[in-house]
Amino acid sequence: MTAVKVAILGFGTVGEGIFNILKEKRKQLKETLGVDIEVAKILVHNVSKEREGVDASLLTNRFEDILALPQLDVVFEAIVGEEPAYGYLDAAIEKGAHVITANKVMFAKFGQALQEKAKKYGVQVGFEATTAGGVPVIKTMETILRVNDVLHIQGILNGTSNYILTQMRTEGISFETALKNAQDLGYAEADPYNDISGQDAFKKLMILSALAFGKQPNWEDVKVVGISEITLEQVQQADANGQRYRHIAEVSIDENGKIHAEIGPQLVDAAHPLYAIDGVDNAVALDTNYIGKITLVGPGAGMYPTASVMVEDYASMLSKQSVVVPV
Ligand code: HSE
Repeated sequence: MTAVKVAILGFGTVGEGIFNILKEKRKQLKETLGVDIEVAKILVHNVSKEREGVDASLLTNRFEDILALPQLDVVFEAIVGEEPAYGYLDAAIEKGAHVITANKVMFAKFGQALQEKAKKYGVQVGFEATTAGGVPVIKTMETILRVNDVLHIQGILNGTSNYILTQMRTEGISFETALKNAQDLGYAEADPYNDISGQDAFKKLMILSALAFGKQPNWEDVKVVGISEITLEQVQQADANGQRYRHIAEVSIDENGKIHAEIGPQLVDAAHPLYAIDGVDNAVALDTNYIGKITLVGPGAGMYPTASVMVEDYASMLSKQSVVVPV
């Protein structure tokens, strides 16, 4: 049995979810993956805060303690913002660890650099959780891209915006009240500006663009519009006409290899693949050359949807590493 030593960076909702899953599923992961996964260190701001079920000796507020571990196989990163997250993961790769991130802001900007570095060091980068939470859009795209071309992507990539638009339509409440509800339920980012301005969806769309087309558009060329200008009257009028407002992030590539991306509210009718996606769910509609159209739908955020796809990222890494012996 191979012993695997893990570090978790950040112990907010997602970090705690990773810790709990690794503990609850340790036996199952031993049986299915043949590895015994042990959390060796957790990076937190406040080491003196008590955390139920967590041995205080696992906590540190110094990243150097993580790099100093005698064995470090995997780093799960669930902190916010570009830095220090990028620097931490870059250093972990240099130490020979696989890295798995939920950090869309960091990964939209530095994903390619991390992947190139990981290749050089013979490790892997998992980023399923950066985009659409528990919806396995990255895995699905990686699989279909082996044979298919992705031609066009349309996504509901921000659960908060979708929740607000849904609540305005179904409950008849104002934008402000719906936003307050989204914050109370913990869907919105610490600064909800990133949700309602379209910036959160923008980062996720850039990650999908890099995966589908091998590149991103110039960020300055992308029109990013949020949902804050949409009034209750507009939502109700659309509903009366059999239409719905959806906050849609879309990207495609033209025959000259130029990427076109746009983010903003769109009025869609019942035939549209994103018409029926209500509440905090995310959805990604892919148009591909051989398969045709596929739509993936599910929870775009939350402790266990996000944490579980990060642990699945590690399971996928193990299967990619396994050697096929010719008979
Ligand atoms: N605030 C984000 C959302 C969380 O509402 O979709 C997941 O990235």
